[in-house]
Amino acid sequence: MRILVIGSGAREHAIIKALHTDPRVTALYALPGNAGMAEAICLPGDPMDNALVVQQALEERIDFCIVTPDDPLANGLVDALEAAGVACFGPTQAAAQIEASKVFAKELMRKYGIPTAGFAVAHSFDEGMKALQSMPCPVVVKADGLAKGKGVLMAGTRAEAEAALRSIFCDRAFGQAGSRAVIEEYLQGPEVSVLVLTDGEALLPLPSSMDHKRALDGDLGLNTGGMGAIAPSPFYTQAVAARCMREIYLPTVRAMQAEGRPFRGCLFFGLMLTGDGPKVLEYNARFGDPETQAVMTLLNNSPLDAFLHCRNGGLMADDLRFAAGRACCVVLASGGYPEAFDTGFAIRQQPHGGTVYYAGVRRQGDELVTAGGRVLSVCAAGDTLRQAVDAAYRAADSIHFEGAHMRRDIGQRALRGEETA
Ligand code: AMP
Ligand code: GLY
Repeated sequence: MRILVIGSGAREHAIIKALHTDPRVTALYALPGNAGMAEAICLPGDPMDNALVVQQALEERIDFCIVTPDDPLANGLVDALEAAGVACFGPTQAAAQIEASKVFAKELMRKYGIPTAGFAVAHSFDEGMKALQSMPCPVVVKADGLAKGKGVLMAGTRAEAEAALRSIFCDRAFGQAGSRAVIEEYLQGPEVSVLVLTDGEALLPLPSSMDHKRALDGDLGLNTGGMGAIAPSPFYTQAVAARCMREIYLPTVRAMQAEGRPFRGCLFFGLMLTGDGPKVLEYNARFGDPETQAVMTLLNNSPLDAFLHCRNGGLMADDLRFAAGRACCVVLASGGYPEAFDTGFAIRQQPHGGTVYYAGVRRQGDELVTAGGRVLSVCAAGDTLRQAVDAAYRAADSIHFEGAHMRRDIGQRALRGEETA
Protein backbone atom coordinates (compact mmCIF):
# COMPACT_ATOMS: atom_id res chain seq x y z
CA MET A 1 0.00 0.00 0.00
CA ARG A 2 1.33 3.43 -1.00
CA ILE A 3 0.70 6.00 1.71
CA LEU A 4 0.93 9.78 1.78
CA VAL A 5 0.94 11.81 4.99
CA ILE A 6 0.10 15.52 4.67
CA GLY A 7 2.00 17.91 6.94
CA SER A 8 5.50 18.66 8.14
CA GLY A 9 5.47 18.57 11.93
CA ALA A 10 6.66 16.22 14.64
CA ARG A 11 3.08 14.95 14.86
CA GLU A 12 3.23 13.79 11.25
CA HIS A 13 6.67 12.30 11.85
CA ALA A 14 5.24 10.27 14.76
CA ILE A 15 2.51 8.94 12.47
CA ILE A 16 5.07 8.13 9.77
CA LYS A 17 7.32 6.27 12.23
CA ALA A 18 4.34 4.28 13.50
CA LEU A 19 3.43 3.22 9.94
CA HIS A 20 6.79 2.61 8.32
CA THR A 21 7.52 -0.82 9.82
CA ASP A 22 4.12 -2.17 8.72
CA PRO A 23 4.95 -4.73 5.99
CA ARG A 24 1.84 -3.68 4.05
CA VAL A 25 3.27 -0.19 3.59
CA THR A 26 5.32 -0.43 0.38
CA ALA A 27 5.88 3.30 -0.10
CA LEU A 28 5.61 6.16 2.35
CA TYR A 29 5.47 9.82 1.30
CA ALA A 30 5.09 13.10 3.15
CA LEU A 31 3.90 16.39 1.64
CA PRO A 32 5.73 18.63 2.28
CA GLY A 33 7.35 16.67 5.12
CA ASN A 34 10.72 17.71 6.53
CA ALA A 35 14.35 16.67 6.16
CA GLY A 36 14.28 14.74 9.44
CA MET A 37 11.65 12.29 8.17
CA ALA A 38 14.11 9.61 7.12
CA GLU A 39 11.32 7.02 6.79
CA ALA A 40 9.42 8.93 4.08
CA ILE A 41 10.01 10.47 0.67
CA CYS A 42 9.17 14.17 0.81
CA LEU A 43 7.06 15.64 -2.00
CA PRO A 44 7.27 19.38 -2.51
CA GLY A 45 4.13 21.46 -2.45
CA ASP A 46 1.70 23.48 -0.42
CA PRO A 47 -0.92 21.36 1.38
CA MET A 48 -3.37 24.24 0.87
CA ASP A 49 -3.20 23.73 -2.90
CA ASN A 50 -5.80 20.99 -3.30
CA ALA A 51 -5.28 20.57 -7.04
CA LEU A 52 -1.54 20.15 -6.62
CA VAL A 53 -1.87 17.62 -3.80
CA VAL A 54 -4.39 15.62 -5.86
CA GLN A 55 -2.00 15.68 -8.83
CA GLN A 56 0.94 14.52 -6.68
CA ALA A 57 -1.18 11.76 -5.10
CA LEU A 58 -2.29 10.48 -8.51
CA GLU A 59 1.24 10.66 -9.95
CA GLU A 60 2.64 8.65 -7.03
CA ARG A 61 -0.31 6.20 -7.21
CA ILE A 62 -1.19 6.82 -3.56
CA ASP A 63 -3.67 4.30 -2.13
CA PHE A 64 -4.31 6.05 1.14
CA CYS A 65 -3.72 9.62 2.29
CA ILE A 66 -3.61 10.75 5.92
CA VAL A 67 -4.53 14.41 6.29
CA THR A 68 -3.64 15.86 9.70
CA PRO A 69 -3.18 19.67 9.69
CA ASP A 70 -6.16 21.90 10.42
CA ASP A 71 -5.97 24.33 7.50
CA PRO A 72 -5.97 21.72 4.69
CA LEU A 73 -8.86 19.87 6.39
CA ALA A 74 -10.89 23.08 6.60
CA ASN A 75 -9.89 23.78 3.00
CA GLY A 76 -11.54 20.55 1.80
CA LEU A 77 -8.43 18.55 0.92
CA VAL A 78 -10.08 15.27 1.94
CA ASP A 79 -13.08 16.03 -0.29
CA ALA A 80 -10.81 16.84 -3.23
CA LEU A 81 -8.69 13.69 -2.84
CA GLU A 82 -11.70 11.43 -2.36
CA ALA A 83 -13.38 12.95 -5.43
CA ALA A 84 -10.26 12.00 -7.40
CA GLY A 85 -10.42 8.43 -6.09
CA VAL A 86 -7.76 8.69 -3.36
CA ALA A 87 -9.00 7.19 -0.08
CA CYS A 88 -8.31 9.38 2.94
CA PHE A 89 -8.04 9.32 6.69
CA GLY A 90 -9.51 12.59 7.92
CA PRO A 91 -12.80 14.45 8.03
CA THR A 92 -14.53 16.15 5.13
CA GLN A 93 -14.67 19.93 5.00
CA ALA A 94 -18.21 19.81 6.39
CA ALA A 95 -17.13 17.69 9.37
CA ALA A 96 -13.94 19.72 9.92
CA GLN A 97 -16.19 22.70 10.72
CA ILE A 98 -16.23 21.36 14.27
CA GLU A 99 -12.73 22.85 14.59
CA ALA A 100 -12.78 25.53 11.90
CA SER A 101 -15.67 27.42 13.50
CA LYS A 102 -15.92 27.84 17.25
CA VAL A 103 -19.43 29.25 16.76
CA PHE A 104 -20.43 26.05 14.96
CA ALA A 105 -18.89 23.93 17.74
CA LYS A 106 -20.55 25.87 20.56
CA GLU A 107 -23.95 25.84 18.87
CA LEU A 108 -23.61 22.11 18.26
CA MET A 109 -22.88 21.56 21.95
CA ARG A 110 -25.81 23.72 23.01
CA LYS A 111 -28.21 21.96 20.62
CA TYR A 112 -27.17 18.48 21.75
CA GLY A 113 -26.66 19.16 25.47
CA ILE A 114 -22.91 18.51 25.47
CA PRO A 115 -21.27 20.06 28.56
CA THR A 116 -19.22 23.18 27.77
CA ALA A 117 -18.67 26.70 29.14
CA GLY A 118 -21.68 29.03 28.96
CA PHE A 119 -21.29 31.45 26.04
CA ALA A 120 -22.59 34.16 23.77
CA VAL A 121 -21.87 34.70 20.06
CA ALA A 122 -21.03 38.17 18.78
CA HIS A 123 -21.08 39.32 15.13
CA SER A 124 -19.74 42.80 15.91
CA PHE A 125 -17.94 44.81 18.56
CA ASP A 126 -21.23 46.33 19.76
CA GLU A 127 -22.92 42.95 20.03
CA GLY A 128 -19.94 41.67 22.01
CA MET A 129 -20.08 44.61 24.42
CA LYS A 130 -23.79 44.01 24.94
CA ALA A 131 -23.23 40.31 25.67
CA LEU A 132 -20.54 41.23 28.21
CA GLN A 133 -23.10 43.10 30.30
CA SER A 134 -24.70 39.84 31.37
CA MET A 135 -21.48 37.86 31.84
CA PRO A 136 -19.36 38.05 34.99
CA CYS A 137 -15.58 38.37 34.48
CA PRO A 138 -13.24 36.63 33.94
CA VAL A 139 -14.36 35.62 30.46
CA VAL A 140 -12.58 34.07 27.50
CA VAL A 141 -12.94 35.76 24.13
CA LYS A 142 -12.33 33.59 21.08
CA ALA A 143 -12.11 34.45 17.39
CA ASP A 144 -14.44 32.12 15.48
CA GLY A 145 -12.05 30.69 12.89
CA LEU A 146 -8.63 29.05 12.69
CA ALA A 147 -6.06 31.44 14.12
CA LYS A 148 -2.95 29.26 14.60
CA GLY A 149 -3.83 28.80 18.27
CA LYS A 150 -3.64 32.54 18.93
CA GLY A 151 -7.32 33.45 18.74
CA VAL A 152 -8.13 32.71 22.41
CA LEU A 153 -7.91 35.76 24.67
CA MET A 154 -8.29 35.57 28.46
CA ALA A 155 -9.93 38.62 30.01
CA GLY A 156 -9.84 39.07 33.77
CA THR A 157 -11.67 42.39 33.68
CA ARG A 158 -14.28 44.13 31.55
CA ALA A 159 -11.58 46.45 30.20
CA GLU A 160 -9.54 43.43 29.04
CA ALA A 161 -12.62 41.86 27.48
CA GLU A 162 -13.33 45.11 25.64
CA ALA A 163 -9.72 45.20 24.41
CA ALA A 164 -10.04 41.60 23.20
CA LEU A 165 -13.23 42.42 21.28
CA ARG A 166 -11.56 45.49 19.85
CA SER A 167 -8.58 43.48 18.59
CA ILE A 168 -10.90 40.95 16.94
CA PHE A 169 -13.51 43.26 15.40
CA CYS A 170 -11.80 46.65 15.05
CA ASP A 171 -8.11 45.83 14.55
CA ARG A 172 -8.96 42.63 12.63
CA ALA A 173 -6.05 40.90 14.41
CA PHE A 174 -7.24 37.52 13.15
CA GLY A 175 -8.53 38.59 9.73
CA GLN A 176 -11.48 36.58 8.44
CA ALA A 177 -11.17 34.21 11.41
CA GLY A 178 -12.42 37.11 13.52
CA SER A 179 -15.61 37.97 11.68
CA ARG A 180 -17.45 36.42 14.61
CA ALA A 181 -16.42 35.80 18.20
CA VAL A 182 -17.43 33.57 21.08
CA ILE A 183 -17.42 35.03 24.58
CA GLU A 184 -17.44 32.33 27.19
CA GLU A 185 -17.41 31.59 30.85
CA TYR A 186 -13.96 31.04 32.36
CA LEU A 187 -13.55 27.45 33.56
CA GLN A 188 -11.03 26.00 35.99
CA GLY A 189 -9.57 22.58 36.54
CA PRO A 190 -6.97 20.24 35.08
CA GLU A 191 -6.93 20.21 31.28
CA VAL A 192 -6.92 16.89 29.49
CA SER A 193 -6.64 16.11 25.80
CA VAL A 194 -8.32 13.00 24.44
CA LEU A 195 -7.88 11.80 20.88
CA VAL A 196 -10.79 9.66 19.74
CA LEU A 197 -10.68 7.76 16.47
CA THR A 198 -14.07 7.29 14.88
CA ASP A 199 -15.56 5.86 11.70
CA GLY A 200 -18.66 7.99 12.24
CA GLU A 201 -20.29 5.40 14.49
CA ALA A 202 -17.81 3.39 16.54
CA LEU A 203 -15.40 5.21 18.84
CA LEU A 204 -11.87 4.32 19.88
CA PRO A 205 -10.42 6.67 22.51
CA LEU A 206 -6.61 6.73 22.72
CA PRO A 207 -4.81 7.17 26.04
CA SER A 208 -5.42 10.64 27.46
CA SER A 209 -2.70 13.25 27.44
CA MET A 210 -1.75 16.67 28.72
CA ASP A 211 -0.27 19.49 26.67
CA HIS A 212 1.99 22.28 28.00
CA LYS A 213 1.13 25.29 25.87
CA ARG A 214 3.09 28.12 27.46
CA ALA A 215 6.67 28.84 26.44
CA LEU A 216 8.18 28.93 29.93
CA ASP A 217 8.29 26.82 33.09
CA GLY A 218 5.42 27.22 35.51
CA ASP A 219 3.00 27.85 32.63
CA LEU A 220 4.43 31.33 32.13
CA GLY A 221 5.24 33.18 28.93
CA LEU A 222 3.43 33.21 25.63
CA ASN A 223 1.22 30.49 24.18
CA THR A 224 3.03 28.20 21.76
CA GLY A 225 2.14 25.29 19.51
CA GLY A 226 2.92 23.08 22.52
CA MET A 227 6.19 22.64 24.47
CA GLY A 228 5.62 19.08 25.64
CA ALA A 229 3.10 16.50 26.73
CA ILE A 230 2.65 13.48 28.93
CA ALA A 231 0.33 10.52 28.50
CA PRO A 232 -1.87 9.34 30.05
CA SER A 233 -3.08 12.07 32.41
CA PRO A 234 -3.39 11.00 36.07
CA PHE A 235 -6.44 13.26 36.37
CA TYR A 236 -8.31 11.24 33.74
CA THR A 237 -9.50 8.32 35.86
CA GLN A 238 -11.60 5.42 34.57
CA ALA A 239 -14.67 7.04 36.11
CA VAL A 240 -13.95 10.32 34.30
CA ALA A 241 -13.33 8.42 31.05
CA ALA A 242 -16.67 6.61 31.34
CA ARG A 243 -18.46 9.88 32.01
CA CYS A 244 -16.77 11.57 29.05
CA MET A 245 -17.77 8.71 26.76
CA ARG A 246 -21.40 8.96 27.91
CA GLU A 247 -21.79 12.73 28.09
CA ILE A 248 -19.32 14.03 25.52
CA TYR A 249 -17.76 11.63 22.98
CA LEU A 250 -20.80 9.60 21.95
CA PRO A 251 -23.15 12.61 21.91
CA THR A 252 -20.67 14.57 19.76
CA VAL A 253 -20.21 11.80 17.18
CA ARG A 254 -23.98 11.25 17.05
CA ALA A 255 -24.61 15.00 16.78
CA MET A 256 -22.32 15.23 13.76
CA GLN A 257 -24.16 12.33 12.17
CA ALA A 258 -27.54 13.95 12.91
CA GLU A 259 -26.31 17.19 11.33
CA GLY A 260 -25.45 15.33 8.13
CA ARG A 261 -21.72 15.83 8.71
CA PRO A 262 -20.54 12.39 9.86
CA PHE A 263 -17.09 12.73 11.37
CA ARG A 264 -14.50 10.15 10.30
CA GLY A 265 -10.93 10.46 11.48
CA CYS A 266 -9.44 11.67 14.72
CA LEU A 267 -11.60 13.91 16.86
CA PHE A 268 -9.62 15.77 19.51
CA PHE A 269 -11.44 16.69 22.70
CA GLY A 270 -9.84 19.48 24.71
CA LEU A 271 -11.46 19.02 28.11
CA MET A 272 -11.47 20.86 31.40
CA LEU A 273 -12.18 18.65 34.40
CA THR A 274 -14.21 21.17 36.40
CA GLY A 275 -15.80 20.72 39.83
CA ASP A 276 -19.01 20.42 37.86
CA GLY A 277 -17.76 17.54 35.69
CA PRO A 278 -15.79 17.38 32.45
CA LYS A 279 -16.54 20.13 29.92
CA VAL A 280 -15.40 20.69 26.35
CA LEU A 281 -12.99 23.61 25.87
CA GLU A 282 -12.43 22.91 22.22
CA TYR A 283 -12.69 20.35 19.48
CA ASN A 284 -10.00 19.75 16.90
CA ALA A 285 -10.73 17.79 13.75
CA ARG A 286 -7.33 16.10 13.86
CA PHE A 287 -4.52 14.66 15.94
CA GLY A 288 -3.12 17.08 18.52
CA ASP A 289 0.45 18.30 18.55
CA PRO A 290 2.40 17.45 20.79
CA GLU A 291 -0.14 15.02 22.33
CA THR A 292 0.19 12.64 19.38
CA GLN A 293 3.95 12.30 19.86
CA ALA A 294 3.44 11.26 23.51
CA VAL A 295 0.54 8.92 22.75
CA MET A 296 2.29 7.26 19.79
CA THR A 297 5.24 6.50 22.06
CA LEU A 298 2.95 4.03 23.86
CA LEU A 299 1.57 2.42 20.70
CA ASN A 300 2.59 -1.21 20.26
CA ASN A 301 1.13 -1.99 16.84
CA SER A 302 0.73 -0.39 13.42
CA PRO A 303 -2.13 2.13 13.31
CA LEU A 304 -2.87 1.28 9.67
CA ASP A 305 -5.95 -0.89 10.34
CA ALA A 306 -7.38 1.73 12.67
CA PHE A 307 -6.87 4.45 10.05
CA LEU A 308 -8.37 2.31 7.28
CA HIS A 309 -11.33 1.36 9.46
CA CYS A 310 -12.01 5.03 10.24
CA ARG A 311 -12.41 5.56 6.50
CA ASN A 312 -14.21 2.34 5.60
CA GLY A 313 -16.15 1.52 8.79
CA GLY A 314 -15.66 -1.35 11.18
CA LEU A 315 -13.37 0.38 13.72
CA MET A 316 -12.66 -2.04 16.58
CA ALA A 317 -11.32 -1.68 20.12
CA ASP A 318 -8.27 -3.85 19.41
CA ASP A 319 -7.27 -1.96 16.25
CA LEU A 320 -4.78 -0.12 18.46
CA ARG A 321 -2.76 -1.71 21.26
CA PHE A 322 -1.07 0.51 23.81
CA ALA A 323 1.59 -0.25 26.41
CA ALA A 324 0.50 0.11 30.01
CA GLY A 325 3.26 2.60 30.91
CA ARG A 326 3.61 6.35 30.71
CA ALA A 327 5.11 8.58 28.03
CA CYS A 328 6.67 12.02 28.04
CA CYS A 329 7.39 14.33 25.12
CA VAL A 330 9.72 17.33 25.43
CA VAL A 331 9.84 19.89 22.62
CA LEU A 332 13.12 21.56 21.71
CA ALA A 333 12.48 25.00 20.27
CA SER A 334 14.58 27.74 18.74
CA GLY A 335 15.66 30.41 21.23
CA GLY A 336 13.11 33.24 21.12
CA TYR A 337 10.19 31.13 19.91
CA PRO A 338 7.24 31.89 19.75
CA GLU A 339 8.56 35.34 18.91
CA ALA A 340 11.43 36.08 16.52
CA PHE A 341 14.21 33.50 16.33
CA ASP A 342 17.20 32.67 14.14
CA THR A 343 17.54 29.43 12.18
CA GLY A 344 20.28 27.50 10.42
CA PHE A 345 21.99 26.07 13.53
CA ALA A 346 23.44 22.56 13.25
CA ILE A 347 21.68 19.91 15.35
CA ARG A 348 24.09 17.56 17.11
CA GLN A 349 23.15 14.54 19.16
CA GLN A 350 24.69 11.66 21.02
CA PRO A 351 22.99 8.26 20.99
CA HIS A 352 20.32 8.08 23.66
CA GLY A 353 17.25 6.04 24.57
CA GLY A 354 14.46 8.29 23.36
CA THR A 355 12.69 8.72 20.04
CA VAL A 356 13.13 11.94 18.09
CA TYR A 357 10.34 13.30 15.91
CA TYR A 358 11.47 16.17 13.71
CA ALA A 359 9.56 19.35 12.85
CA GLY A 360 11.37 22.61 12.00
CA VAL A 361 14.51 21.22 10.36
CA ARG A 362 16.18 21.25 6.96
CA ARG A 363 19.24 19.63 5.45
CA GLN A 364 22.41 21.61 4.86
CA GLY A 365 25.16 19.51 3.36
CA ASP A 366 25.06 16.31 5.37
CA GLU A 367 23.76 18.00 8.51
CA LEU A 368 20.32 18.73 9.83
CA VAL A 369 19.95 22.37 10.83
CA THR A 370 17.16 24.26 12.55
CA ALA A 371 14.52 25.77 10.28
CA GLY A 372 11.53 26.59 12.47
CA GLY A 373 10.25 27.52 15.92
CA ARG A 374 9.58 24.07 17.26
CA VAL A 375 12.54 22.08 16.00
CA LEU A 376 11.90 18.56 17.28
CA SER A 377 10.08 16.48 19.89
CA VAL A 378 11.94 13.99 22.06
CA CYS A 379 9.81 11.21 23.52
CA ALA A 380 10.38 8.36 25.94
CA ALA A 381 8.27 5.82 27.78
CA GLY A 382 8.64 4.32 31.23
CA ASP A 383 6.77 2.15 33.70
CA THR A 384 6.05 5.23 35.77
CA LEU A 385 5.58 8.86 34.83
CA ARG A 386 8.74 9.76 36.76
CA GLN A 387 10.75 7.26 34.69
CA ALA A 388 9.25 8.52 31.44
CA VAL A 389 9.97 12.15 32.32
CA ASP A 390 13.56 11.39 33.37
CA ALA A 391 14.20 9.34 30.22
CA ALA A 392 12.75 12.07 27.96
CA TYR A 393 14.97 14.72 29.58
CA ARG A 394 18.06 12.47 29.39
CA ALA A 395 17.41 12.14 25.67
CA ALA A 396 16.62 15.85 25.25
CA ASP A 397 19.83 16.82 27.06
CA SER A 398 21.88 14.83 24.56
CA ILE A 399 20.69 17.01 21.66
CA HIS A 400 22.32 20.36 21.05
CA PHE A 401 21.88 23.35 18.79
CA GLU A 402 22.65 27.00 19.38
CA GLY A 403 19.95 28.76 21.38
CA ALA A 404 17.96 25.58 22.04
CA HIS A 405 15.13 26.12 24.48
CA MET A 406 13.03 23.55 26.31
CA ARG A 407 10.77 23.67 29.29
CA ARG A 408 12.23 21.89 32.29
CA ASP A 409 8.91 21.10 33.96
CA ILE A 410 7.05 18.92 31.48
CA GLY A 411 5.03 16.42 33.53
CA GLN A 412 5.50 18.19 36.87
CA ARG A 413 1.84 19.08 37.26
CA ALA A 414 0.87 15.51 36.40
CA LEU A 415 3.41 14.14 38.90
CA ARG A 416 1.89 16.35 41.59
CA GLY A 417 -1.56 15.28 40.39
CA GLU A 418 -0.64 11.62 40.77
CA GLU A 419 -0.26 12.24 44.47
CA THR A 420 -3.73 13.78 44.74
CA ALA A 421 -5.74 11.95 42.07
P1 AMP B 1 -7.91 26.63 22.54
O1 AMP B 1 -7.00 27.25 21.50
O2 AMP B 1 -9.35 26.75 22.27
O3 AMP B 1 -7.39 25.27 22.94
O4 AMP B 1 -7.66 27.44 23.88
C1 AMP B 1 -6.37 27.66 24.34
C2 AMP B 1 -6.34 27.51 25.83
O5 AMP B 1 -7.14 28.51 26.41
C3 AMP B 1 -6.93 26.21 26.34
O6 AMP B 1 -6.03 25.16 26.28
C4 AMP B 1 -7.25 26.60 27.76
O7 AMP B 1 -6.09 26.57 28.56
C5 AMP B 1 -7.69 28.02 27.61
N1 AMP B 1 -9.16 28.12 27.57
C6 AMP B 1 -9.96 28.02 26.49
N2 AMP B 1 -11.26 28.17 26.83
C7 AMP B 1 -11.28 28.37 28.16
C8 AMP B 1 -12.31 28.58 29.14
N3 AMP B 1 -13.60 28.64 28.81
N4 AMP B 1 -11.95 28.75 30.42
C9 AMP B 1 -10.65 28.71 30.81
N5 AMP B 1 -9.63 28.52 29.94
C10 AMP B 1 -9.94 28.35 28.64
N1 GLY C 1 -2.25 20.54 21.40
C1 GLY C 1 -3.40 21.17 20.93
C2 GLY C 1 -3.53 21.18 19.47
O1 GLY C 1 -2.98 20.36 18.77
O2 GLY C 1 -4.23 22.05 18.98
